[in-house]
Amino acid sequence: MRFVREEAWIRNLVVFLMITCFSFSSSSSKSESCPYSSIFSFGDSLADTGNLYLSPNYCFFPPYGQTFFHHVSGRCSDADSLGIPWVKPYLEKKNIGGGGTNFAVAGGTAMESSFFEERGIPVKTNYSLSVQLNWFKELLSTIYHSSSPGWDEDVKKSLFLVGEIGGNDFNHAFMIGKSAVEVRTYVPHVINAISSITKELIGLGARTLMVPGNLPIGCSAMYLTVYETKDENEYDESGCLKWLNEFAEYYNHELQIELDKIRELHPHANIIFADYYNAALPLYRDPTKFGFSGLKACCGMGGPYNFNASVRCGDPSVIACDDPSKYIGWDGIHLTEAAYKLIAQAVIKGPYSLPPFSSLCLTNANFGYFNI
Ligand SMILES: *[C@@H]1O[C@H](CO)[C@@H](O)[C@H](O)[C@H]1NC(C)=O
Ligand SMILES: *[C@@H]1O[C@H](CO)[C@@H](O)[C@H](O)[C@H]1NC(C)=O
Repeated sequence: MRFVREEAWIRNLVVFLMITCFSFSSSSSKSESCPYSSIFSFGDSLADTGNLYLSPNYCFFPPYGQTFFHHVSGRCSDADSLGIPWVKPYLEKKNIGGGGTNFAVAGGTAMESSFFEERGIPVKTNYSLSVQLNWFKELLSTIYHSSSPGWDEDVKKSLFLVGEIGGNDFNHAFMIGKSAVEVRTYVPHVINAISSITKELIGLGARTLMVPGNLPIGCSAMYLTVYETKDENEYDESGCLKWLNEFAEYYNHELQIELDKIRELHPHANIIFADYYNAALPLYRDPTKFGFSGLKACCGMGGPYNFNASVRCGDPSVIACDDPSKYIGWDGIHLTEAAYKLIAQAVIKGPYSLPPFSSLCLTNANFGYFNI
């Protein structure tokens, strides 16, 4: 039996995106074809659909989202790529040059805390996108003042991950029982916040930005438990809650409309939509094909989905499953390493990035399974 504080299993999806990207480049005979010298990420803990709400401490070793800063070498990677340094979060301060910076904060929201206050939604952090953008600006000015030559070129050659963010904005509302009709009214606000930061980053020199959508939240053990119903019509063929997945689809659709507008305004920038939703869906549709058991969370306490909001993973009385690699969901909110790996692979390899990430980068990569 396995006790929970196994942080390795709740790694962030960003980690896998980055490892996947860098692994591809290292396996490429033409690694120069990958134009990214560093990666900056903004958001929550990627795939963290409610970390703050449900995890005051245990899962909150901030920040989940890791960003890898790869030294500028004209190449994306080399044989060291699988040993990409785990960089310190930005809040540990000024770790530039040494290896990295991370702006993503578990529990982060797109909107300011005042947005939630006005709507009577309790939110415990205030790490909004604009707060994170300010950190980036601070970093830029530090680099600028240290007169590092070529820093603006580095920005141009970096990959910016704008999100996943926004998921928590909706989770907070759904978890206190706000209706889908009401939460849909938040969508334009969240998208506007994401759009603003994307445009601002372009203004600061960013040229390649990946903006992920939301996951199929109707398949998460947390939502399945909280919104459990006897009405079979509310479930799809995989046992996921249709109305919540429809919400995620709606949001992703609206987000892509906005990304099209940004592309028109900034034709010189590469705006990539990362379709986490459709990358994740096959795992739920056909879990056995991927060696997964279904919708139950690995680490939880009872109920049909092995999730109990009052006794969660991280509580001393909660014991995790023996083999997390057989589960899609880790703690009912976050996914397992095994699931994140597959999603990251599907996004980077395609077809779940639009335009295909592989068309922008690593065109000659050998798409072997990345071996971490
Ligand atoms: C966020 O909240 C903390 C604690 O309440 C506070 O100290 C900090 O100043 C706030 N930051 C912003 C940017 O609002
Ligand atoms: C959740 O756990 C609490 C505390 O152990 C328990 O009282 C409650 O019945 C559980 N809820 C469900 C739905 O199992």
